[in-house]
Amino acid sequence: MPSDTARRRCAVVGLGARARMFTTALAGPYADRIDLVGFCDVNPHRMAVHNEWIGASVPAYGAEDFTEMLRRERVDLVVVCTVDRTHDHYIVEALEAGCDVVTEKPMTTDADRAMRILDAQRRTGRQVRVAFNYRYNPVHAAVRETLAAGEIGEIGSVHFEWLLDLRHGADYFRRWHREKANSGGLMVHKATHHFDLVNWWLGTEPETVYAHGGLFFYGDEAGTRRGLARDYARAHGSPAAADDPFAVRMADSPLLSALYLDAEAADGYHRDQNVFGPGVTIEDDMAVLVRYATGSTLTYHLTAYAPWEGYRIAFNGSEGRLELLVEESTWTRPRVRVPGGSAVLHGESAGDTAGRTELMLRRFWEPPRELKVRTEDGGHGGGDVRMLEDLFGVSVADPLGRAADAVDGARSLVTGLAANRSFESGGPVRTRDLLDV
Ligand SMILES: NC(=O)c1ccc[n+]([C@@H]2O[C@H](COP(=O)([O-])OP(=O)(O)OC[C@H]3O[C@@H](n4cnc5c(N)ncnc54)[C@H](O)[C@@H]3O)[C@@H](O)[C@H]2O)c1
Repeated sequence: MPSDTARRRCAVVGLGARARMFTTALAGPYADRIDLVGFCDVNPHRMAVHNEWIGASVPAYGAEDFTEMLRRERVDLVVVCTVDRTHDHYIVEALEAGCDVVTEKPMTTDADRAMRILDAQRRTGRQVRVAFNYRYNPVHAAVRETLAAGEIGEIGSVHFEWLLDLRHGADYFRRWHREKANSGGLMVHKATHHFDLVNWWLGTEPETVYAHGGLFFYGDEAGTRRGLARDYARAHGSPAAADDPFAVRMADSPLLSALYLDAEAADGYHRDQNVFGPGVTIEDDMAVLVRYATGSTLTYHLTAYAPWEGYRIAFNGSEGRLELLVEESTWTRPRVRVPGGSAVLHGESAGDTAGRTELMLRRFWEPPRELKVRTEDGGHGGGDVRMLEDLFGVSVADPLGRAADAVDGARSLVTGLAANRSFESGGPVRTRDLLDV
C-alpha cells in the first residue's frame, strides 16, 4: 500500500474491541512508518480508553466530524472498525477525500452499499484493503499452496463445516450483531471469512447459492421452548442473570468494563443482552450450497451453538482429497461464578482449550500423508500479526496473493447475501442478480 519511504497519516474510525489490534500496532511496531493522527467514534469514552491503552493523546472526533478530521489531520489512510452497517459510509467518504482505506470485514452489509464502495474505489483510484486475516493463517496458506501445486488435481467440490462454541457463538446474540440490519446476519458478518477463503483457495467466484437458515437455539422462542430462557433484558444488575451460563458479567472484566460498561452513558449501548431475549433477527444454524464459475461446488454449514469451536474442510479433487481439521476449542466452560473461585470471563474468543490441527493429504492409490503445518498462538492462528505486517510493513511480493481488495470483499459478501435471500425465497439465487462483480 504505502511507498516504502513516505510516512503515512492514519486515522481509525470505530474504537471498540477489534480496533485494539490496529491502535496498538500503529502506536507500537509501525510507529516508525505511520503517524496515528485521529480517532473517530460516536462514543468519546471508548476513544479515551484507546488513548489510555496506547499511552497517547490522539485527537478524538465525533462521527459527524469525520470528514473534518480527514482534512484537519491531513489523513491519507483510514482504518474502518465500526459496526458493519456503517462501513460503507466511512469507506466512501475516505476514498472521496483522497485516502486509502483498510476496512474490517465484512466490507459492508448489502448489495447497494457494496456497489457504492466499488464505484467510489474505481472513481477515485484509491486503494481499499479488506482485513481478511484468515488468509494469513499459516494453515490456510498451506492449503492454498497444496491446492495450487496440483496435489489433488482439479477441485470438484468442497465440504466445509464451521462451528462456533457456546462462548463465542453466543456472543453474537448479545451484541449489536443480533440484529440483521447491523451485521447482515452470520452469513455476512461471520461467513464472509469462510466464503472469502473458498474464493481464494479455488481462485474462483460464486455463481449460484441455495440455502436454508433459521434460529434454532438462541432467541426468545427457542429459549422458552428449551427451558433456557431467563427473565432479564441485560445481564448487568439483573438477579435473573446470576445463574445463567449464557450471561456475560462485564463488571468482572476490566476490559469489558472499560470499553462498554463504563461507556454506556454516552450511547446507551448494552453489550450484555440476553441471548434468549426478544429482538434477535439473525440465524444460528445455516446450510448453504454454492456453485462456482469453475463448476466446483461447496456445501457449507455454520452452527453458532456448538460444544467446541473450529472447522472441518474437505476438498475433493480429480487426484485425491485434502482434509483439514482445526479445533480452536475442545469444550466450553460455563461462565457461572464458582463460590470462592474466580468468574470465567469473556473476551470475544472461543473457549480456552485449543486442540488439534491436522492437514491430511489423501492422494489416489497412496497412503495418507499428514502435512506438517506451523500452528501458532495469537489472533486467528497467527493471521493477525502477518496481516498487520502486510498492511503496514515494508511491502514485499506475496506469491500467495493474500492482499484482499474491494472486489474480493464484494465477492465474499455476495455469497452471504445470496444465502440470506435464499433463506427468504426458498429458492436458488444467482449472485449476479444481486451484485455483478
Ligand atoms: N477480522 C476479525 O477477525 C474481526 C474480529 C472482530 C471484529 N471484527 C470487525 O471489526 C468491526 C468492529 O467490531 P468490534 O467487535 O470491535 O465491535 P465493537 O462494538 O467493540 O466496536 C464498534 C465501535 O464502532 C463504534 N460505532 C458504532 N457506530 C458508529 C458510527 N456510526 N460511527 C462511528 N463509530 C461507530 C462503536 O461506538 C464502537 O466503538 C466489525 O466490523 C467486525 O466485523 C473483525
